Amino acid sequence: MSLGIAKSGLTLAAIAAICAALVAVTYHLTRDRIAANQQAMLEQSLAPALAGLEFEGPISESRLVIPPPHDLPGPGPAIVYRVFASGKPLAALIAVTAPNGYAGPIRILVGISYEGNVTGVRILEHRETPGLGDGIESTRSDWVYQFDGRSLGDPALAGWALKRDGGVFDQLSGASVTPRAVLQAIRETLLYFDAHREALFAAPASEDDK
Ligand SMILES: Cc1cc2nc3c(=O)[nH]c(=O)nc-3n(C[C@H](O)[C@H](O)[C@H](O)COP(=O)(O)O)c2cc1C
Repeated sequence: MSLGIAKSGLTLAAIAAICAALVAVTYHLTRDRIAANQQAMLEQSLAPALAGLEFEGPISESRLVIPPPHDLPGPGPAIVYRVFASGKPLAALIAVTAPNGYAGPIRILVGISYEGNVTGVRILEHRETPGLGDGIESTRSDWVYQFDGRSLGDPALAGWALKRDGGVFDQLSGASVTPRAVLQAIRETLLYFDAHREALFAAPASEDDK
């Protein structure tokens, strides 16, 4: 190997080492800020399903991951955020997946008070058709607000269906597949909460993938 090639190699290695060091320093300087921003965004997306309830502490720190198999809607892990006030359980926000949307799975956040009333429902992710199924989004229509304050007793379980299926809830104009899937997921989440409420609030927060 000639001296020139060796020199070039050393120069390239030095440049690569400097670049790697710069990336590492930048990562360490911005890591905390990125994590804080991510947490703030998560808190902002969770709060609307809580109907303005006064609570304490960052919601995201009470995160509980429920791995499958479980009786919540959707095949993957479900995520539960526990919300407290004066140290007492106030509500739970449960992120579940309705597997049977028109265009695929629909991620839903179901807020439920400790007493079992819906505090709010928000659609986290979906691929439903604009102008048809996307009316489930709170920014597109009022459809999702009809669940506010409802519970397993209001209406009775048989009423937890679309009007056209014999229940009490509205469908969307020209689209019943999407609302049927979301409604079914909300009903299953309420049933799960009713059966597992004490255990949900007693479980320690999950540490992984925060
Ligand atoms: C291109 C296309 C997109 C559609 N997107 C949706 C949708 O996002 N959500 C939905 O519920 N139905 C959607 N539909 C309509 C369904 O096929 C179905 O007709 C509708 O949900 C009404 O159901 P119903 O016949 O029981 O009233 C779509 C239909 C077409 C042709």
